[in-house]
Amino acid sequence: MCGIVGYTGPREAYPVIIKGLKRLEYRGYDSTGVALQNGGLKVYKKKGKVAELEDSIVGKDLHAHVGIGHTRWATHGEPNDRNAHPHSSASGKLAMIHNGIIENYAQLKQELLKKGYSFKSDTDTEVLLNFVEDIKTNNHCSLEEAVRIALKRVVGAYVILLLDEETPGTIIAARKGSPLVIGIGKGEHFLGSDASPMLEYTKEVVYVNDYELAIIKPDELILKNLGNETITPYVQKLDIELAAIEKVGYDHFMLKEIFEQPQTIYDCLRGRLDAIAGTITMSGIQQYSGQIMNANRIVIIACGTSWHAGLVAEYIFEELCRINVEVEYASEFRYRNPVINKGDVIIAISQSGETADTLVAIETAKAKGAIILGVVNVVGSSIARVSHGGAYTHAGPEIGVASTKAFTAQLAVLTMIALKVAHDKGSIDKERYMHLLNELHEIPQKVSKVLESSEHIKRLAEKYKEASDALYLGRGYNFAVALEGALKLKEISYIHAEGYPAAEMKHGPIALVDENLPVVFVATKDSYHEKIVSNMQEIKARKGKLIAVISEGDDYTAALCNDVMVVPEADEILAPMLSVIPLQLLAYYIGVAKGCDVDKPRNLAKSVTVE
Ligand code: F6R
Repeated sequence: MCGIVGYTGPREAYPVIIKGLKRLEYRGYDSTGVALQNGGLKVYKKKGKVAELEDSIVGKDLHAHVGIGHTRWATHGEPNDRNAHPHSSASGKLAMIHNGIIENYAQLKQELLKKGYSFKSDTDTEVLLNFVEDIKTNNHCSLEEAVRIALKRVVGAYVILLLDEETPGTIIAARKGSPLVIGIGKGEHFLGSDASPMLEYTKEVVYVNDYELAIIKPDELILKNLGNETITPYVQKLDIELAAIEKVGYDHFMLKEIFEQPQTIYDCLRGRLDAIAGTITMSGIQQYSGQIMNANRIVIIACGTSWHAGLVAEYIFEELCRINVEVEYASEFRYRNPVINKGDVIIAISQSGETADTLVAIETAKAKGAIILGVVNVVGSSIARVSHGGAYTHAGPEIGVASTKAFTAQLAVLTMIALKVAHDKGSIDKERYMHLLNELHEIPQKVSKVLESSEHIKRLAEKYKEASDALYLGRGYNFAVALEGALKLKEISYIHAEGYPAAEMKHGPIALVDENLPVVFVATKDSYHEKIVSNMQEIKARKGKLIAVISEGDDYTAALCNDVMVVPEADEILAPMLSVIPLQLLAYYIGVAKGCDVDKPRNLAKSVTVE
């Protein structure tokens, strides 16, 4: 949430920052701003996306070799020019951008108001900035020292970048709870909420940790803790190519990411699954295999689409491993003093690895003694780092705000963990184990097959784009797919959609059914098939429009429906990796047909780093 970029070095800072902000726009796009230092500070900011800021400052003096930039997802104060970052301090000598929330800002603001400060915006950021300036002025200290003192009083989460008119070429940065990456170039440094703004300039990066403060000059990076002790930066090499963060010919990142799924699932299985030898190798899980096998309970915590992956995993783990599983919304789990017993294992699922609720839920469970396993996409992210073990999903950067390829990669990883535990525990017989390994190995090819029907789904999108509501129904392993299909449709096209267990529909939602309501069934061939077909009959009898995801060759079900989307047959445990694909495409094409900004749906941001 909120993207931050910084640059100091010999290049013109503005183009580097603007390009970086475009890469980070998935994190929020309510407003945009830059602060450039060339002698004095110049701050340009505006409500709206990065392109709108660019248009508004054509012809202005943008020359500078140091600068910071921000793309905002509003928390305190509505999205407008005033509340856009960077903020300038009362004296105008400091500028700051911020990602996070300062929880005690109201108290700090009161103190500053009593001292005669006034505020131009409604943000917590401006309060923190003036708090820093007040300390700097009263203590006659450096900006670095003032930031250190200020942060000891701050409650909340932040990444902040500051410029000071008095120290040209220098950026001060600090982090707690929100991500910050520093790219190391030759005589230059880059900063970003993730590595994407710096990818074409350097592959060497430092992930700043919580409670660390950085003093960044073109040819020097000093990292300190809040106790003013110097820390040796740990430089890591990025393993991402530029093409991974560009659209490479696709109209949208979302479409690119949907079409990447055969490869991303393959990458996720590669080196781990050996269907011939009958082995699954996952080093980050291996050492906890005993604890998982003997766990009283597995608690899965996640949000949004990752939570849906967790729901599928619940069914898989219970079936294959015979272990009790609970799936929790991280935001609910963390606040209700959850009961965690010795022997409970937590699996935290997150694409970004930065979701604030999931992160705090992990800390809550960790403090109670649970083993934490992370299933995370972004390498080096906070959740990956606070987990005891786990497995990366290797889906590559996901930039479209609606999650697609991360979901199927999460399912692949979770299935492999369940299969490994079941095998080690002896709760699965050899024949079924080998069958599932073989089937899993074939999933990437089958996903490619589903993608071949994209033109057909595009036509369906045209047909159903005017719907005002839709109901998505599924049972068993496909129940969570129905929830995910509904979530995709509402976030991308703004059509109201609800996902429900198909049988539960009779206990309320069936009242919505009339000849105008599209009802999307996820009805692939599985052990629930006959039951779900009966549910389809119930909708048909009430004249609802029946659309279904069905298995190849299922002519009987096809004949019941107004429209179908066909996927290859697969074992029911693995079916969600296939049945979700047509629903991703349907949401995408409906969103496009309605003229929505599918990569940046309104009000959303990809990485939810605030509670
Ligand atoms: C939906 C979507 C969100 C995320 C949720 C969790 O398309 O992207 O619901 O799944 O915000 O994010 P992560 O997985 O990064 O923790």
